[in-house]
Order: sequence, then C-alpha cells, then structure tokens
Amino acid sequence: MSETVYPVPAQWRDSAVISADAYETMYARSKNDPHAFWLEQAQRLDWIKTPTQTDNSSFHKADFAINWFEDGVLNVAANCLDRHLDTRGDQPAILWAGDDPSEQRTITYRELHAEVCKFANVLKDQGVRKGDRVTIYMPMIPEAAMALLACARIGAIHSVVFGGFSPEALAGRLTDCDSSIVITADEGLRGGKAVPLKANVDAALALSHSVTRVIVVQRTGNNVPMTAGRDFWYHALAAQASTDCPAEPMNAEDPLFILYTSGSTGKPKGVLHTSGGYLLWASMTHAYVFDHKPGDVYWCTADVGWVTGHSYVVYGPLANGATSVMFEGVPNYPDHSRFWQVVDQFKVTTFYTAPTAIRALMREGEAWVDRCDLSSLRLLGSVGEPINPEAWEWYNRVVGKGQCPIVDTWWQTETGGHLISPLPGATALKPGSATKPLFGVFPEILDNDGRVLSGAAEGILAIAKSWPGQMRTVWGDHERFFQTYFASYPGKYFTGDGARRDADDYYWITGRVDDVINVSGHRMGTAEVESALVAHETVAEAAVVGMPHDIKGQGIYAYVTLNANEVPSEALRKALIQWVRHEIGPIATPDVIHFAPGLPKTRSGKIMRRILRKIAEGEIHSLGDTSTLADPSVVEALVRDRVLQP
Ligand code: WT7
Repeated sequence: MSETVYPVPAQWRDSAVISADAYETMYARSKNDPHAFWLEQAQRLDWIKTPTQTDNSSFHKADFAINWFEDGVLNVAANCLDRHLDTRGDQPAILWAGDDPSEQRTITYRELHAEVCKFANVLKDQGVRKGDRVTIYMPMIPEAAMALLACARIGAIHSVVFGGFSPEALAGRLTDCDSSIVITADEGLRGGKAVPLKANVDAALALSHSVTRVIVVQRTGNNVPMTAGRDFWYHALAAQASTDCPAEPMNAEDPLFILYTSGSTGKPKGVLHTSGGYLLWASMTHAYVFDHKPGDVYWCTADVGWVTGHSYVVYGPLANGATSVMFEGVPNYPDHSRFWQVVDQFKVTTFYTAPTAIRALMREGEAWVDRCDLSSLRLLGSVGEPINPEAWEWYNRVVGKGQCPIVDTWWQTETGGHLISPLPGATALKPGSATKPLFGVFPEILDNDGRVLSGAAEGILAIAKSWPGQMRTVWGDHERFFQTYFASYPGKYFTGDGARRDADDYYWITGRVDDVINVSGHRMGTAEVESALVAHETVAEAAVVGMPHDIKGQGIYAYVTLNANEVPSEALRKALIQWVRHEIGPIATPDVIHFAPGLPKTRSGKIMRRILRKIAEGEIHSLGDTSTLADPSVVEALVRDRVLQP
C-alpha cells in the first residue's frame, strides 16, 4: 500500500472540465436532488423526445426493475455521428493504426457517418430489423466500429465476441442470443500473425444453428472459403448500398447491446445494456474522467471485444465528438516501442491502458519509451485490475514525465462505464487507489453478513442505488440477473469485488471475492476453465484458482485429477493446455497444470477452494483449519507437489 499523495497540479485546478469545487457540489446534488441533476446531465445527448423521467429502479425482489429516462426517445448512432456533422464534419473521428506500422487510416466524422449509413443499409438489405441480434466477431479495424454503429442506427442489438475467443466459445454466444447474422473479417492481424476469423466462424456454425447470413469484411485479402447463399463479402454488398439511412427512433430503454462476460458459475452471462442511460453514462464519464476537450487526441488501447472498447473506444468518445485512436496491434510488435510510437505519431493527449501492459513494458526498460516524443500527453488512465504502486510510479515518471495525472478507473462490464475514479482536476491521487465515486454512485463496504460498515473499513463492495449506465438484465434470464447481483445483499448491487475505504474516504479495490479471476485485465470464470478441463477424456475432476503473476496480475492454476487408468506426463500436460485454448481461447491458457491424486474436500464432498487458493499463492503456512476435510493427507501431497512459478 502506498502512502504517497499527489495533489491536483495547479494548472489542472482551474482549467479542468470538473474542478474540485464542482465535484463536491455536483456530487451533493446527485445525492440530494437526483431528478434535477439527471435531467440536466441528460442534456448532453440529443433526444428526439427529451425525457421528463429519470430513475425508476428498485433492487428489491418485490418490484425489481432498472429503468432510466423511460419516456425519452433517441438514436445512439445519431448522437455519435449526425449531430457532429455541422460543427466537426471534417475532424477525424477515428485515427486507425494498423498492426503493421506502415498502415494507417484517418476517418472524419463525415466519412464515418456515410460509412455507417452504408453498413446499416447493408444490414437492412440482409433482413436485419429492430431488435434482431447481430453478432460481431471482428479484428480492430474501423469496420468494427462501423458495424456497432450501424446496428445502433437501425435498432439492432449487437453482440460483440472478442476475436480471440474460440469457435466453441463463439458458438455458445451465438446460440444463447439466437443471432441470425454474423459480421466478421477474412482474417485478423495481431503482432504480425494472422488470426483465422472466418475459419473460426465456419467452425462455430457447425456447432450453432441460428445463423443464416455471414458478412465478411476483407482485411488481409487472403483466400478464405465462402459458402454460397450464406456468406457475402461486405465490399460487394456495400458497393450498391446508399449512404442515406434514417436513424431509427429508439426508446431510452430499448436494448443497445449484449456483451457476454464470465461469472463465478455457469456459462457466460449476456449482459444487456440499453440506449439512453448507457450512452449518457459513457459520454459523461468519458468527458469528466478524461477531461475531454476539443483538440484532444484520445487513445484507449482496449479491443472492441471488451466493454472498455464499447464504452471508451466507440460510444463515449464519439458521443463527445472526440478523435478516438483505434489500434489493431499489440504493445510489443514490431518492438517494445510501439505504443509510444503511436503516441508520438498521432500526438496523443490522453492515453488509457491496462496495468498488465504497463508491467510488461516496464520490464523491457525505459529506453523503449525514451526514444519517442511523448510531450503531447496530458492525461493517463488505467483500467481492468488493481494497479500496483510500482507500476503506477513507473507510468507516472517514465510515460507521464511526472506531468500527467493518472486516472485509475474502477468499473465492470455490468456498470457500463466508470463508477469509482479520480477526476483529474478535482482529486488528489494515491497510487493504487481508484479514489472516489463519480456522480450518482453510492458505494458501501459490507461485512460478510451484509452489515454496512462506516468510516475506514474493509469488506465487500456494494452499490446502494442504480445509476444510468447499469446493466438491465442477463439476456434471456432475468432471474439469474437478480440472483447474481441482488440476492446476496438485499436492496444493493453486489459487485463481486472487495474494497477498503481509508480515512480520507478513498476506495482501494482489493480484488474479486468470488470465483472470478482477472488474467491480464480479462475476466475469467474459474468454473468455465474447470468445465473445459473435465470435458477432456482423461480428466476426472478439476479445480481452478488464481495465482499471483508478475505480468498478468493473476495466472490460471489448475488442479487436475485424472481418470483411474491415466498417468500424468509432460505430453498430457501440454495436451490439456492446448485443449483449454481450443475450448475457450488463448486468454484461458492455464499457467499451471498440477496433477493431483485427490482434491481437498469436506465430508459432504465440497471442494475446499480456499485451501487450493492458498497453495497456489504459496501461502502454505496459513492454510487455516483443515480438520473438516474428509482426508487431510490430500493437502500434504498438494503442498509437496505445488508448482511455484510456471
Ligand atoms: C472487474 C471487471 C472495467 C473494464 C475492464 C474489465 C476489475 C476493473 C479495475 C480497477 C481494480 C479493477 C474488478 C472488476 N477491475 N477495473 N481500476 N482497479 N480492479 O471489465 O471484465 O467486467 O471486469 O475488473 O475486479 O470487478 P470486466
């Protein structure tokens, strides 16, 4: 824990979008007069019909519902495009940096508007209507953003599946939301390697049967098989499409997108976000947290396959008329200078990335940073996992040259956008703390019995009231939505995170308190990895926990019990790792496979994961009470055979 405090720099105090005084007054107003506060904030957006209602939500079982701005009507794509045409039609909306440094594209608001209209007409020609689900499985190319906005323009619900997910994972998500159409590319390109997106779609469609149309954007131009009558090249369809497409009027509560995310149990949940509240939250937080000003060049390094890409590459920045940098590649290709070359080349002012990337680049040394001119930077951001003070200090000193505030933004797929974050003109920074709640966000620290703790305290992080960007349901399973987030601590939103509040009312996120692990800022349900492992013919039982990892934050530690006639071997270890990659995708690659003769269980047969976690963390002297185990000797064997660093 760091004790250092960085006060708000003098030049930020007066010129920031939100000053210290403004934070206090606005926060108080969001608490004491929320209706007026939110009607005012809603004016950030262009409404076809301005809402007169604001929050109409309850977290209680009897009248459970989450609704905001219910009588408002708007179109999300029109807010991101049309309303900017008069004022900034010729300003770049997207600056695209290809995987290969020689490739780049600039797309102005006027061009983006025309391309999105064309894409929307292509979707309409293919029979897509308001409310239909469109799955997007794309690389980081401008057409991915266009596809999202095209759906929003016609009121179709997009479901983006990260391009690193396997055909199996894609198939599950297609089936769950009953998508009839997939938008993909021939191949993606990352770190100089081709990603076989179209081939993965073909494999997924052998497993899932809802899809009748595949639209393929040409990225690499390499040959890919096309199934006649099902698969169509985007460029061929677009050649005949008009650049005129009226924006569909949508109710504020009409769905905008589904995004699948991992939980502690079962298959991934389809998190549903709607139109008005989500866009307001994305736009407001982008403006306030990143202190967005005209002329900024803003770069969020996330992939559109994650919520960060939705809210802070596409919707938030474009709603605010920002110039958003979109990056196809990876931080270490062609070399460890790549991020900083892009900053230098595009004169990036605002840079937002994940602690895992910072740690990986920190390990390579400062020379990679110092060879680039980073003087355009004025603000840095961090997201995805707690940032360790050492990485924070490096980011501040080496990248920000001690001149750029760092906003450590805590949020989740479920929250739509930032909930706890510094505002650079208002909040003194403490390395490792996400600091203070944003407007209308009322965090609480609970003990295990759900009692609200006051003052400095550590416990479970819950949120007391709804905010506009909150998810509305789990697609197709409203009961699961309630059970997952509102049943454990009645009347509150349970975040799944632990947190500490210090004497200055600053929040420090301590990590997940459920069976979710965070690998390189990507969320993984341990249950998903376990079910992939037990699906292998040699595996009898598996238990997966997180382990500390220098770069990734957490690694995946898998305890595996084999069937009676199977023998552990190096070859089998490799085969199991490959198997999990194949079932879920490379992000789920286990760091450790620990062949265990048995797992620690209670007498009623429940695996004691607490003990497995401690062993994986190397904390073998604080295993706690093992007397309730059916066979305590199992633990000794596990401790003896534990794998320290993969
Ligand atoms: C989980 C949500 C939010 C976009 C990226 C991840 C962890 C996220 C922080 C942060 C500490 C963080 C939490 C959270 N997390 N940001 N600044 N400090 N932890 O979205 O995949 O939905 O994961 O990421 O554990 O619950 P996600």
